[in-house]
Amino acid sequence: MRTNKTTTLSLKNDDTLPIEEDHQRGQLIQRRQHALTLHLGDFQLLRTLGTGSFGRVRLCRSIHNHHYYAIKIMNKAELVRLKQMNHTNSERKTLLQVIHPFIVHLWGTFQDTHYLYMVMDFIPGGELFSVLKSEQCLEPHVAQFFAAEALSALAYLHEECHIIYRDLKPENILLDRQGHVRLTDFGFAKYVSDRTYTFCGTADYLAPEIIMLIGYGKTVDYWALGILIFEMLAGYTPFHDDDPLTGYDKILVCNIKYPLHFSTLAHDLLARLLTRDLSQRLGNLAGGYQDIMDHPWFADMDFELLAQREITPPYQPQILDGNNGQDPSSCYEIYDEEPLLPSLENDVDPYRHYFMDF
Ligand SMILES: Nc1ncnc2c1ncn2[C@@H]1O[C@H](COP(=O)(O)OP(=O)(O)O)[C@@H](O)[C@H]1O
Ligand SMILES: [Mg+2]
Repeated sequence: MRTNKTTTLSLKNDDTLPIEEDHQRGQLIQRRQHALTLHLGDFQLLRTLGTGSFGRVRLCRSIHNHHYYAIKIMNKAELVRLKQMNHTNSERKTLLQVIHPFIVHLWGTFQDTHYLYMVMDFIPGGELFSVLKSEQCLEPHVAQFFAAEALSALAYLHEECHIIYRDLKPENILLDRQGHVRLTDFGFAKYVSDRTYTFCGTADYLAPEIIMLIGYGKTVDYWALGILIFEMLAGYTPFHDDDPLTGYDKILVCNIKYPLHFSTLAHDLLARLLTRDLSQRLGNLAGGYQDIMDHPWFADMDFELLAQREITPPYQPQILDGNNGQDPSSCYEIYDEEPLLPSLENDVDPYRHYFMDF
């Protein structure tokens, strides 16, 4: 079982996003953007929920409505140093556009001298990564449920928003109070009408077409779905290597050893997702994502009920309610805390122009 979290990679960025045209969704988005002009003083900042490559996410509580939120805090100087300006602006823009039951809700964003802030709903059930860590591997029906909700979110992103997600992995799949999936981390999400070339994602989950630098589209998310299903069933990813370059070679060779306990149907589905040949990869054929939903491994999954959140989740997170001094974020790991640099009201901010929309 993988005990360490994986880190995201990004060597180059080329991301831009066109203006959202859908009227109804546009109105909802505008409500999100303009309902509140947020700043740090609106929140009581509590503990760190998670850290990633480009920032950390803190639990916080509104001083107005006393609800809990999760705020992703990113250091602007660091983002500029790592050339993540376009990715970060794209993260904000894509997440503000999407409205889906299995995707985290972004309320708004703001910035001060040193940091960018993204205010999201707090998702209390923790990461799928933590579930996998404690269970080693998941029962097929549990893996099937998480895979189905993740697939439903990906299908929505691809077909309705023309967004590829590019960072599907257990660390970015959160569980809500009932145990339903909420996809977070749109740091690599991108509007793509055709293909893109950026080398980014997470080593174990990279599709061969990303490594080969030949240009790619939504197929990379279906490859990642295959890796996710494999990892949930096996407890490890199929191409892992401590040396990333050797790992990339393994991905390109694509010689997968399936554990003996995998069913024939699981084996068949994964062989059709984890293929280098894009003309064979499920999700990229005539039926699109529906071909994956129609695969016999998902035979007893009703995707229509699933989309209505009507399928009872197989795993119920143990969540404390936050009253009487209880920690509402007990499903999350404990991290060392770092104090924020104080914002300097009159200071010249050399980075603001990179992030004008925040
Ligand atoms: N809305 C949220 N509610 C609760 N925890 C969250 C939320 N969003 C992110 N996190 C936690 O913070 C971690 C890092 O956030 P993420 O957006 O993935 O950052 P990075 O882009 O640096 O990977 C996640 O893996 C998760 O543990
Ligand atoms: Mg992440």
